[in-house]
Amino acid sequence: MSIFFIFLLSLSAIISTTAGDPLSDEISALRAFKSSIKPSTIPSYSCLASWNFTSHPCSFPHTTHFICGLTCYNSRVTQLTLDPAGYSGTLSPLISKLTELTHLDISENNFFGPIPPSLSSLANLQILSLRFNSFSGWVPPSVFALKKLESLDLSHNSLSGSLPNTLNSATSLTRLDLSYNKLTGSIPKLPPNLYQIAIKANSLSGFLYQTSFTESTRLDTVELSENSLVGVLQPWFFNLPSLQQVNLSKNKFTGVVISKPQNPESNLVAVDLGFNKIQGNLPVNFLLYPMLSSLTLSYNRLRGPIPLEYSKKQRLRRLFLDGNYLNGSPPSDLISGKTEVLAGNLGDNCLKYCPASSSLCSKSQKATWICRQAYGKPRL
Ligand SMILES: *[C@@H]1O[C@H](CO)[C@@H](O)[C@H](O)[C@H]1NC(C)=O
Ligand SMILES: *[C@@H]1O[C@H](CO)[C@@H](O)[C@H](O)[C@H]1NC(C)=O
Repeated sequence: MSIFFIFLLSLSAIISTTAGDPLSDEISALRAFKSSIKPSTIPSYSCLASWNFTSHPCSFPHTTHFICGLTCYNSRVTQLTLDPAGYSGTLSPLISKLTELTHLDISENNFFGPIPPSLSSLANLQILSLRFNSFSGWVPPSVFALKKLESLDLSHNSLSGSLPNTLNSATSLTRLDLSYNKLTGSIPKLPPNLYQIAIKANSLSGFLYQTSFTESTRLDTVELSENSLVGVLQPWFFNLPSLQQVNLSKNKFTGVVISKPQNPESNLVAVDLGFNKIQGNLPVNFLLYPMLSSLTLSYNRLRGPIPLEYSKKQRLRRLFLDGNYLNGSPPSDLISGKTEVLAGNLGDNCLKYCPASSSLCSKSQKATWICRQAYGKPRL
């Protein structure tokens, strides 16, 4: 028995000398993490101020040292979730030594410099949030190799460059938010389990390719407004099987082709294509999507009459068509009985009859000469 015990002891000694001591690695990683933050930006009341390495970060109780910011499990650091105290500094690459980390959240501070590629060593990481900081440089492609990563939020930083083609190797990723950065280039193939993608307010360009979206059968929310995406939106896009909410406003799309829904139980609820350069007639097929309740096509180059189908739509609650060249008379149902339940705007068009009694018509129509010009009629 005692011989066996001694054997175990010596075995564990061998293991710990050959494999290194994860606990002291973690302490040195946390020390490095803290020391790469400017001391003058660590307020006395903050979590980081309580990180005093005279005791072990995972020892209990946390009454004086390591009061907050860390969570441990089995004496290993599993979560680093900082308070938004205004910390300013770089993110130490040694953070990669916290190999049991599942959550890394240092959002709403003033971290700057690159996102260290060594984050790819955090094989257990599920949630990474660096939102509202000042990180710059590229999004390290290796981050997308993290097989357990479920949520990545790098929004509101100064990240640049294009999205890596390895994006779709993040097989567990369900939520991606890269909004409010300076990303360029087009959208590569998306990961298979993604539910929500938000890359709003960047400088993305190019087409939306069907090949980028083919594996994304769970995608329900697409927020890509305020970019420079181009081309004609094709029927496959609105037929993405789980699609619910789409915001592609403030891009440079020139057209939209929409078919009848392939899935009669489509959950498409809200579409915003405002402030593009979409030409042609108002598409009728949007109204065939059974759940659609909010449609915005404001400030495009749409022409022709508002199809009768738009009045029969019981579910529609918001309809914004202002700022186009729509003409004729709107369907009478649209501007009479239903107006209490339907919010929207038909103003700034070329509509002949849009009575001020309807809230949809409270904004005036375009000047006659602009409409004549738009429809190629000579000025009188
Ligand atoms: C850390 O804790 C020790 C003892 O608990 C204390 O003497 C020391 O002043 C503390 N250091 C800081 C920086 O608060
Ligand atoms: C879509 O995005 C634009 C621009 O960011 C925003 O102004 C608009 O409110 C969004 N649309 C909807 C329906 O939320």
